[in-house]
Amino acid sequence: MTSNSVSLFFLFFLLCFYVHLFHNEVTLVKSVRGGKSTNLAQERLFVNVIKPQNSSQVKRVVEFPLPSVHECIVSPGSRFDCGRDRLLSRAECEDRGCCFSPLPLSPGPPWCFYPHMYPGYRLGPFSPTERGQAATLTRETPSYLPKDVSTLSLEVMELNADCLHLTVKDPSSQRYEVQIPGVVPQSKADAAEVLYTIQYQHNPFGFIVQRKSNRRVIMDTTVAPLLFADQYLQLSTMLASTLVSGLGEHYTTLILDLNWTSLTFWNRDMAPHADVNLYGSHPFYIVQEEDGFAHGVFLLNSNAIGYPMMPPYWSLGFHLCRWGYTTTNATRRVVQHMHEANIPLDVQWNDLDYASERRVFTFDPLRFGDLPEMVEEFHKRGMKYILILDPGISSTSPPGTYPPFDDGLRRDVFIKNATGHVLIGKVWPGPTAFPDFTNPETRVWWDDFIKNFHSKVPVDGLWIDMNEPASFVQGSVDGCPDSDLENPPYTPRVVGRQLNSGTLCMSAQQKLSTHYNLHNLYGLTEAYATHRALMNIQQTRPFVLSRSSFPGIGQFSAVWTGDVRSDWEQLRYSILAVLQFSLFGVPLVGADVCGFGGNTTEELCVRWMQLGAFYPFMRNHNDKPNAPQEPYVFGQKAQAAMRSALNLRYSLLPFLYTLFHHAHTSADTVARPLFMEFPTDPNCWTIDHQFLWGSSLLISPVLDEGVVELVAYLPPGTWYSLQNGQPFYSNGQYLLLPAPLDTINVHVREGHIVPRQEPALTTTASRLNPFFLTVALSAGGWAWGDMFWDDGDSLDSFEMQKYCYVVFIVGQSQMISEPIKLNGALDGLVLGGLQVFGVLSAPRYVIANGEKVQDYTYHTDTMVLTVTGLTLPMSEVFTVQWIL
Ligand code: NOJ
Repeated sequence: MTSNSVSLFFLFFLLCFYVHLFHNEVTLVKSVRGGKSTNLAQERLFVNVIKPQNSSQVKRVVEFPLPSVHECIVSPGSRFDCGRDRLLSRAECEDRGCCFSPLPLSPGPPWCFYPHMYPGYRLGPFSPTERGQAATLTRETPSYLPKDVSTLSLEVMELNADCLHLTVKDPSSQRYEVQIPGVVPQSKADAAEVLYTIQYQHNPFGFIVQRKSNRRVIMDTTVAPLLFADQYLQLSTMLASTLVSGLGEHYTTLILDLNWTSLTFWNRDMAPHADVNLYGSHPFYIVQEEDGFAHGVFLLNSNAIGYPMMPPYWSLGFHLCRWGYTTTNATRRVVQHMHEANIPLDVQWNDLDYASERRVFTFDPLRFGDLPEMVEEFHKRGMKYILILDPGISSTSPPGTYPPFDDGLRRDVFIKNATGHVLIGKVWPGPTAFPDFTNPETRVWWDDFIKNFHSKVPVDGLWIDMNEPASFVQGSVDGCPDSDLENPPYTPRVVGRQLNSGTLCMSAQQKLSTHYNLHNLYGLTEAYATHRALMNIQQTRPFVLSRSSFPGIGQFSAVWTGDVRSDWEQLRYSILAVLQFSLFGVPLVGADVCGFGGNTTEELCVRWMQLGAFYPFMRNHNDKPNAPQEPYVFGQKAQAAMRSALNLRYSLLPFLYTLFHHAHTSADTVARPLFMEFPTDPNCWTIDHQFLWGSSLLISPVLDEGVVELVAYLPPGTWYSLQNGQPFYSNGQYLLLPAPLDTINVHVREGHIVPRQEPALTTTASRLNPFFLTVALSAGGWAWGDMFWDDGDSLDSFEMQKYCYVVFIVGQSQMISEPIKLNGALDGLVLGGLQVFGVLSAPRYVIANGEKVQDYTYHTDTMVLTVTGLTLPMSEVFTVQWIL
C-alpha cells in the first residue's frame, strides 16, 4: 500500500494551521468570484497526492448522475478540477458526474469541474478519544478513482490554543506514514483560549476553520470533494488572500503566482531555474491576510517538526570551497592567500578532489596523502575543515579493497531493487550502491565509517551532496520494472517526466517502505544519520550541510541552494530562496556566493560577497571549469570591498548567534521577510529584494550590474545607517540610497540594540575581542537588545543551562546591562565601547560604571555618540550614561 494517509496539523500562532500531506503537487489559483472587486478575491488551493493506477485499468464501476445545468453554474475562477489525474473528453468528464465547459484560457480554469454538492464522504458521529475526538467518514458510492478507499477515520485534536491537528487515515490497512523525530505538543487545549473554531459539513464531508477573533475563514475544504484512493489524494480549499508564500523548493518570487500555477514536490538534482522541481520538498505555505494577521499551512503525512538546531559559532564565519582544489598544497595555498590578504576565513573546504577515485571514506594517497596534517595545520590557525561526503558507495572496487562497500554488503545496509538485489545506480565514482538511512543498521555502519575516517582526518563537519538521491542513470543500471509505482498514468510534472528520472527506481526497497514513499526523505534521513554520527564522535555541536531537504531537516543540518549560476538573476533569486528556507524551519541557509556555474565577474562577485555577508550561512563555492573566485584573485578595490563586507559580518556575529538561539528555542526566523515584522504595511507584503536580520537590521543589497545607487523601502519609523548612524525618518517610503562598490546598505531599526564584537580573521580570535553595542534610539530615547553567549560548540548548552544571556536596556540617556543568566562563558570578556544613534544634542560628559570617560566623540550632523576605550566586564552589570 502506498502513502495515502493524511494527517492535518493546524498550528495557530498568529493563527497558523498545518495540513500534513505527502508529496506531490499543489495548484494555486486566484479567482475573483462573480467579477467582484479584488478585495473579495477568493484564492484556491488544490493539493494532490497523486499517482493513481494505470488509466487503462480504470473501469467505471459506478454510474454518476449527470449534473443539472443549474448545478454547473460555477464561475470560471471557482472551478475545481475533476480531471486532475488525466485529460478528459466531455463524455469521460460527464461519466464522472462532472460539468464540462471548455474555455479559451491557458493556463486557465479546468474544463471538467465539480458541480455543487458533488458526492463525497459522509461524516459520522464524533466520539471522544484520548487527545480529542474521532469519527468515521464513509462513502456510499466509490469515487471515480481506482482503489478508492470508502471508509476513513478522522481524528481531531486541539493540541493547544494555537495548534489543531486533524488526521484522516485508511483504518483498514497499514500504510506508510512519515516519521520525523521532533516535538509535538501532546497536551489538550484549554477550550476558552483556543483561537479558532472548526465546523463540519457532514455530507459531503468538508471542514471550515475560522479565526475566532475576526471570524475570517482561513480554510474551507467544502468547496470540492475530498478524494482518497490508493496513490491519489486530493484536498481543496479556499484561501484568505492572494499573498501566498512558501511551497518550496522552486524558483519563484516571495509571493507565488496564483495564475493556475502547479508546483511539484519531488527532490531532484537540478540547477535552479523556473518551472521545475528542485532539490528539496517543503509543502508549507503562509498566507498574509492583509490586515496584519497571517496563517500557515503545512502539508505532510504525519507527525511534527522540532525546532532548528543551534549551530556551532564557527559555522557562522566565512567558508571557502571549490571543486578543483586538486591537492593539499593547492588547498593550503588558498588559506595562505586569504591570510596574506587579511581576509577573514573560518572554514576551508574540499570537494570530491580529495577522494581516491572519487570514492568516499578514502583520500588520494598522492594528491591528498598528507590530508590529516593539513587539517591539523588549519586547526592550529584556529580554523575548521569540512569535506564532501556523497551517499553513493562505489560498487566496482575489487572485493576486499573498499571496506565501505564490502562491509555495507555484509551488514545489508544498501537499498534493494524490486527483486531483492542491491540496486546499483551511477554517480561520480561510477556504479554505486545507496545506503538506506531508514535502516538502523545503516546508521550504525555510517557511524562506524565516519568514525574511522575521522580518526585519520579530523574533519569538523560534513557536506552531504547528491542526496535527492541523484543518479546519472534512470532508476538503476538495470532499469526498473514496469509497475504502478514506476509508471503511474498521472505523473506530477517532474523534470524528466518520470519519477525515477535522475534517481532510483520507485519500486526500490528500503527498510521502512518503498523508495516511492521515501524518495523525498532521502536527504533528511541522511542528514539525521550524519548529524548523529558527528555528535557521537565529536561530542560537540555537529555541522552538516545538505543539498536535498524535507521538513524537519533544520534540526540536523544547514542547507544550500545548489548549483546557482554566476549571474545577476540568480543573485536576486538567492534572497527569495534564503527567505523561503527561513519559513521552512531551516535558518542556516545560503547560496554559493559568487555563483557556482559559469564564470563570475569582479563586480558580481563583490556584490555577491556583500549580500552573502548577510546569508545566515556564507560559503563561496565554485565549479571545476570556472575562473577562480576566491576574494584574493580580484583587484585591490574589489578585495577591499569584500574584506569590509566580511569584517562587517564578523562584527555582527554575536547578534547573528543570538538570532540562532531564538530560532533554536522558539522557532524564530533569522533572515526574515519584511512582511513578518510589518504585516500591516502593504509595501512590505511582496518585498524580496531586501530582508531583515531578526527584527533589527534591514539589508538592502545591490542586485544589478553597474548600479551605484538603489531604491530601498524603509518601513515607517526611524532607521539609522549602520555605517555612519545617519537617521532616516520614514513614513513608509522608498528612498534613493548611494551604494558605491564598497558599500552594502544596512539600516538599524529604532529602539533596537545590536551586540557586536571587533572582527578578526577567524571566530576563534574574534570571540576574544572586546564587544561593542550599536544602539538605535527610538523617538522617545529608548532601546532594547539581548545577547546569548556560550562556548560556541558544546552540545545542548541552552538545555544544560551552560550559557549566558544578557539584556541591554537604554532609557533616559543611560544604558544598563542586565545579565539574566551567567555561567562563566563571558568571564574575561569586556565591553570596549558603544555607538549611540539618535542622541539629539552633544553630551557634556560620559560616565561608565560611575567613572568619567575620556574617549568619546559626538557628531552633530549625524547625531552619533561614539564611546571607545572601555573595559567593562561583560559578566557584570554595567552602566553607561551620557549627560546632556
Ligand atoms: C554537485 C554539487 O551541487 C556541487 O556543489 C558540487 O561541487 C558537485 N556536486 C561536485 O561534488
